[in-house]
Amino acid sequence: MHHIDTYEVGATSHQGFVPEIETGLLATTASISPKFLYDPLGSNLFAAITLLPEYYPTKTEKDILFEYQDQIANAVGVGGTLIDLGAGNCQKAESLFNALKPTDYIAIDFSTEFLHEAIKNLQAQYPHIHMQAIGMDFSQELVIPKAVNTSQRTFFYPGSSIGNFVGSQALKLLSQIKEQALGGGLLMGVDLMKEDSVLMAAYDDPLKLTAAFNLNILRSVNAHLGCDFKVDQFRHVVKINHALNRVELYLEALEDLTVSWSGNSRTFKRGELIHTEYSHKYTIASIQELLKNAGFTTSQIWTDPKNYFAVIYAR
Ligand code: AVI
Repeated sequence: MHHIDTYEVGATSHQGFVPEIETGLLATTASISPKFLYDPLGSNLFAAITLLPEYYPTKTEKDILFEYQDQIANAVGVGGTLIDLGAGNCQKAESLFNALKPTDYIAIDFSTEFLHEAIKNLQAQYPHIHMQAIGMDFSQELVIPKAVNTSQRTFFYPGSSIGNFVGSQALKLLSQIKEQALGGGLLMGVDLMKEDSVLMAAYDDPLKLTAAFNLNILRSVNAHLGCDFKVDQFRHVVKINHALNRVELYLEALEDLTVSWSGNSRTFKRGELIHTEYSHKYTIASIQELLKNAGFTTSQIWTDPKNYFAVIYAR
C-alpha cells in the first residue's frame, strides 16, 4: 500500500465560497462560477459528457496525443515532473505515462473527493511513480507547494479548460504556469473555432447530459450556500457568441421565482438568465498570441485532420 501525499491549497471549503456565490447571484445579470459545476455528481456527469459522440474535444485530443506521442515526448523530454491541472479522473495524464515516463505525477483539482479516489487507483497501477494530490482552486491563484519536485516540470492542461476563462484570467493563469514551470514547459489542449452546428451538438446534446450537468450547478450552490434553487424551474440554454469566439451556457428561469438563503434572496423573472459558463474557442494565431503575452517564447503544435482541436507544447 503506497502513501499518497495530499495537500489543500487556499479555500476549497464551503464557507470560503459563500461571498463569491452571493455576489454572483445578487448581480444584475446573475452568474455562478463554472467551478461549481464540479461537485461529485457534476464531475461524473462531465466524465459522461466526454463519452458522448457529439462531444468531440475529448476524443479529438486523445487521438492527437496518441498519434503524436513520440514527437510530444521528444519536445517535452522523458523522466520529469508532470503537473496535471484539473486532473479529474486522471485518465488523460495516464495516457501519457508510457511516452513521458514521469518520475513524479502531481494531480491538482478543485473537486478533491473525486481526485482522491482516482489517484488511489492510479498509484496502485504505477507504484514506481511518486504521486501527490492537491486540492486547489487555481482559477483564483496557482500555488505549487514547496514539496513538489522542481526538476523538469511540465504542466499538463488538457481538455481546453483554458477556454473556460475570459482573456484576463487565462493570461493570469498562463503567466503563473510559466513562472512555476521553473524553465520547464506547458502541454495544453485548446479547442479551435468551428461551425455552429458542431458546437451546438456538443453543448446541447440530444441525450441532455450537458443540460443535466449545467442544471446540477443549482444543487451544487444549494449545498454551498444553503439556498433553495429548484432544478425543475430552470432550463439549459446555449448561445454562440461570434464576436467573442465562445460558447455561452446559461440557465433560464421558466417562471417568476425567488431563491432564498440566510438573510438574503434573489428574485428571477420568467425568461431571466443565470450565466454559468463560457467555453472560448481559439485560433492557432490567437492562442499563440496569448502564450506570448504570458511569457512563453516557443511552441510546437499538433492538430487533427479536421482542425477541430490543437495540442500545444510551449516553453
Ligand atoms: C471542461 N471544459 C473544457 C468543458 C468545455 O467544453 O468547456 C466543460 C463543458 N461544458 C459543457 N460541456 C462541457
